[in-house]
Amino acid sequence: MSVRLAVESLEKVYGEGERAVHAVRGVSFATEPGEFVAIVGPSGSGKTTMLAMIGGLLTPTRGSILVNGTDIARLRGKALAEYRRRRVGFVFQANNLLPFLTARENLLVMARINGSDMRAAKARADQLLEELGLTPRRDALATELSGGERQRVAIARALMNDPELVLVDEPTASLDSARGKQVVQSLIAEVKGRDKLGLMVTHDLAMAEMADRVLEMHDGLVVAHAVSTRG
Ligand SMILES: Nc1ncnc2c1ncn2[C@@H]1O[C@H](COP(=O)(O)OP(=O)(O)O)[C@@H](O)[C@H]1O
Ligand SMILES: [Mg+2]
Repeated sequence: MSVRLAVESLEKVYGEGERAVHAVRGVSFATEPGEFVAIVGPSGSGKTTMLAMIGGLLTPTRGSILVNGTDIARLRGKALAEYRRRRVGFVFQANNLLPFLTARENLLVMARINGSDMRAAKARADQLLEELGLTPRRDALATELSGGERQRVAIARALMNDPELVLVDEPTASLDSARGKQVVQSLIAEVKGRDKLGLMVTHDLAMAEMADRVLEMHDGLVVAHAVSTRG
C-alpha cells in the first residue's frame, strides 16, 4: 500500500445561476505516501466540500483528483462505489453509530454485510478498539457511550477496511485535548505504518501541529502551505 494524491485545479459549484455557490475555486496540491496533512480554515471555506470530493462522495465541477494516477473525478457508478468502499475511510462530524449495537458490533456490521472473513474482522476490530482506548467499552451499547467514545468508535469503524485514504472532518470536536491528541496519534501511526494518506480537517491548532503539513483554506482556495515544525 503506497498512496499518492494529486489534486489539480479542483472546483465545486453548488447550484446554478444567481444561487450558485463557488465552494472550492481551484485547489491544487500533491501528497507523498505516508503523509498526514491537516486542513484548517474558517467555517465555509470549502474544507468539507474538498474532502467529500476526494472521498468520492461529491462530484467535482472541474479539475482532477489523481489517486495513484487514476482520476477519481471521472469515476461513475460501480467504479466510484468500489473506490469509496475499498479505498476510502471517512470520519465525519455527524458519524452515527447504530444505537442498538455495541461498540464492537458497530465495527463488525459492515464485515457481516459484505460477507467478509469474520475471524480477521474481529481481530482487526479488537486491535482498533485497543489502539483507541476503547477495550473497556467494547461491549457497551452505542447509546451508553459518551460523545468522545462514540467519536472514537466512528474512527475505528472508518479504519476497519484498511483504507488507503483516511479522511477525517473535525474528529476532535467532542474529545478533550489529551484524548484528542492520542486519537490523532493513532491515526498518524496508521497512516505512517502503511504508507497511506491522512487528511484531517481541524479547528484545533495543537492537532494541526501534529501533522506533517498544514493546508490553510480561505474562501474556496488553499492560501498557505506550512510544513510542520514537528520535525
Ligand atoms: N449542499 C450545498 N449546497 C449549497 N451550498 C453549500 C452546500 N454545502 C456547502 N455549501 C456552501 O459551500 C461553502 C463551503 O462549505 P463547506 O465545504 O461546508 O465549508 P467548511 O467545511 O470549510 O465549513 C459554504 O459557503 C457553504 O454554505
Ligand atoms: Mg466543514
